[in-house]
Amino acid sequence: MATAFSGPGRGAIMAVKGVVFLVLAAISVSCADSELGLDTDPTRVIALSRQLSQEFNGAYPLSPVPNGNVRKVELNASEFESGVRPPYLSRVWGYNQRVPGPVIRMALGETLEVKLTNNLPQPTSIHWHGVRVPNSMDGVPGLTQKAVPLGKSFVYRFTPKDAGTFWFHPHFRSSEQVEKGLHGVLIVEDPADPPYSAELVWMLDDWLLEKDGSIYDQFVTHHDLAHDGRWGNFLTVNGQFRPVFMVNPGDRIRIRMVNVANGRVFLPVIPGMESRVIMVDGMAVAEPFLLGNFDLAPGNRLDVDLVVPANSAGRTFAVENRFSRQPSLLAFLQVDMQKAKDTPSFDLPRAGHFPDWKEAEGIPVHHEFILDAERGGIHGISWTIDGRIWPRSQVLELWAGQFYRLRFTNRSSRLHPMHLHGQFFRLLSRNERDTDERFWRDTILVGPRESVDIGLVPTDLGLWANHCHVLEHAEAGMMTAVRVN
Ligand code: C2O
Ligand code: CU
Repeated sequence: MATAFSGPGRGAIMAVKGVVFLVLAAISVSCADSELGLDTDPTRVIALSRQLSQEFNGAYPLSPVPNGNVRKVELNASEFESGVRPPYLSRVWGYNQRVPGPVIRMALGETLEVKLTNNLPQPTSIHWHGVRVPNSMDGVPGLTQKAVPLGKSFVYRFTPKDAGTFWFHPHFRSSEQVEKGLHGVLIVEDPADPPYSAELVWMLDDWLLEKDGSIYDQFVTHHDLAHDGRWGNFLTVNGQFRPVFMVNPGDRIRIRMVNVANGRVFLPVIPGMESRVIMVDGMAVAEPFLLGNFDLAPGNRLDVDLVVPANSAGRTFAVENRFSRQPSLLAFLQVDMQKAKDTPSFDLPRAGHFPDWKEAEGIPVHHEFILDAERGGIHGISWTIDGRIWPRSQVLELWAGQFYRLRFTNRSSRLHPMHLHGQFFRLLSRNERDTDERFWRDTILVGPRESVDIGLVPTDLGLWANHCHVLEHAEAGMMTAVRVN
């Protein structure tokens, strides 16, 4: 997985630009923060920053390694009827007449070519959430492409750089389009993936349905905006209410979980099963940890290593959501009556290289994003970043190859899962207390009145969206952009 960080030529230029920037950053904090004991000596900050970006080197590949194979997929977005809540039919929007959307599987090294055709009553686009694509393929109208009009097509083409669990969804009126069923999963397989007995893909969602099974048709309501977006009354896994998944005693199963809901946060647990998180947001963790310790916010993914006990033939295990005070049932794992097979034995997969960044607190915060709300705007309530409503936002300039500490400060009492496109980052601290998350993320849940620091070394160039993944908050302005130069 490890590849060289950058060619000597470009690296040198970056380093020079980095120095210029950091001198400024360091000087600007030297007066304000000197009583706080922050290291304000500019040369020390520069040296430390260089050390932190060196620690990052090799964490994930800079460029794809195409093997020449092209996977061609057609995705036709349209409206149709689906049995979300049997016996009723719901009018949904989906890809290829499927809700939930298709699971696209490909091998690392393959090039994906997706032809999106829009048969919806409004424009659309596809964003490849978590996939480090060339900027022009990121699917964000207003930033990277024009929305695809009714009756037209757009071809997305890219070679993923990372193997893992990703997903895709529209980035145009997503509060309505994702909610109505437009989403799917992209799985990039690595030949080095461990030999699990089986694999399950779970799209966790909630629908806001009327008694007759129809989708409540008011979107971005005052209520959604005054709360954590639209939370449904009907929880589904893969579009089904409390589905039953058959497993065999002794199986070792990989579960790929994706939260595709507009606003709901899930805290999945499977009592009685040994289950460990091996990947977060599509990237292998440095230290696997027990399931039940991760708030799966909208946009987040978890890959779970689950062992079905050998002596559990005939038993049923519940999959629960414990995020809300009142736990709820999501699904069941039903163990077959057959005799246990030998459980495949292999070490839990983990990240090949993960930076320690122990001294990251020595680097001043490069930018603090202020998350807040205000009255007014087309929806009555607007959600803001740095006091601005998208698209009247200011672009934050970053340089590739340089270590940054960024802060999200939530001045509101709502939840904001913040998603940065095109990059992975690591959580450094919550409310200025260091944390020890040993994994990458592309989405971080920022709680009420909470302040969160992340560390990152941008590697992928271009203009990238940075927004709240509560889709109603994003629709009401909570989005900005960063440019990686
Ligand atoms: Cu999944 Cu910009 O989002
Ligand atoms: Cu939000």
